[in-house]
Amino acid sequence: MTDARTTAQNANAEKLEQAYASVSDTYRGLTEDLYGACRAMRQTTRVYEGDFIAKFLGVPTNAGQQAGTRPTYAVFQYQDVMNVLRDANTFTSGFILEGMGKVWDGLMILGMDGEAHRKVRALLQPSFMPENVNKWKPKIERVMREDFIAPLVPKKKADLMEMGLHFPVRVMYALVGFPEDRPEEYNQYAVWALSMLAANQLDKAKAEEGRRIAAQSVKSLYEVLMAQVQRRHAEGATGDDIISRLMRAEYEGHKLDDHEVATFARSLLPAASETTTRTFSAALAFLLTVPGLVDRVRNDRSLVAKLIDEAVRFEPSSTFKVRETSCEVEIGGVKIPKGSFIQCMVASANRDETVFENPDVFDIDRRQKPSFGFGFGPHMCIGQFIAKLELNCAINGILDLLPNVRLDPDHPAPRIEGAHLRGAKHVHVIWD
Ligand code: HEM
Repeated sequence: MTDARTTAQNANAEKLEQAYASVSDTYRGLTEDLYGACRAMRQTTRVYEGDFIAKFLGVPTNAGQQAGTRPTYAVFQYQDVMNVLRDANTFTSGFILEGMGKVWDGLMILGMDGEAHRKVRALLQPSFMPENVNKWKPKIERVMREDFIAPLVPKKKADLMEMGLHFPVRVMYALVGFPEDRPEEYNQYAVWALSMLAANQLDKAKAEEGRRIAAQSVKSLYEVLMAQVQRRHAEGATGDDIISRLMRAEYEGHKLDDHEVATFARSLLPAASETTTRTFSAALAFLLTVPGLVDRVRNDRSLVAKLIDEAVRFEPSSTFKVRETSCEVEIGGVKIPKGSFIQCMVASANRDETVFENPDVFDIDRRQKPSFGFGFGPHMCIGQFIAKLELNCAINGILDLLPNVRLDPDHPAPRIEGAHLRGAKHVHVIWD
């Protein structure tokens, strides 16, 4: 790589660290005791009538500037959260596009409802199912080991969050099929992806600035992705990369046009990046701090999947989801008018003591039950198998290549924080 490109790569890596820190700041909120606040509500108040998130968490939601414009309620119990997320006809997501509407233009599946969502999801889903995703395993494993873990080996110590910040977008970059010889580019794309999250802010002036930056990022990412779509057309779209798969996908005679492929691929970058970074931080934090766990997992790699599942239950990277009622509903005797926001407290439902025994204990051996860290129902994370594969490759790579990896006694142990987007900032380790 030329000196100029190395300089660009380093500058973009620094910008990425700043962008991630700024997103974490936006969503840090009032985190004194998130799980305690949720527990108190879950056990005493089935439906909170008011804006629980603004009052107790102090973070923006994806309702953006619409927050405060509609009656707002919050639910905390496992079954209530499940019922809301499962019934996407009554509890809709279209408001997300209203909030971000001017910024997004194209296939933004997260904010689609009803038949339109069902159709597009059916068209996209096959590309993201394990039988297809597992074909990417050699590529993901190679990126993880060669680009991220092998260069660390001689150093004998590291903050693993440095790789945690970079690998999710690097992997998506490889799966989307960007040229492999331009490592300076993917950090720029990661910065743009993170900037899209800056559009939601509590402070009105910051929100305006955030939306301006997000709009620029959305446009820049569109241009690079559209160039890839056009390249695939010229090559016949026969490859195994995400763009070619999306171009070939068909459901009930419908196919995606180029604009839809480019805009959906664009939405994958923010959806896939900091969520995976935060979940990686939580899984590592537990792997290295729960007594005896790292030895057990090192000796029995089938436990890596359980470690990831329990991390997603115990510390969901996103602590709530918001929906809007399409008609009047009643929950626990409380009448909720049409057009209200319902805040589904995932952080609470995932620790509901009526469903999970000893819910505040991190236990990879617990009996598996659905939890909501990847969502639930029609909008449940379409990328979950990619995320789990990446995390699995990362954790196995760390255990294989960093002998006797353990916490660095010269640094504080990892601390998971954040009222909405949670994760550990640092995971300092040493190895033999
Ligand atoms: C550990 C990492 C991840 C976590 C914790 C996570 C979490 C979530 C959650 C909670 C939802 C549901 C949102 C809602 O109900 O409103 C969601 C949706 C989604 N995720 Fe993920 N995600 C992760 C990784 C990924 C990856 C790697 C991709 C892409 C390859 C991805 C793409 C998406 C998309 C496109 C949706 C929207 C699906 C729809 O609306 O039908 N996610 N994710």
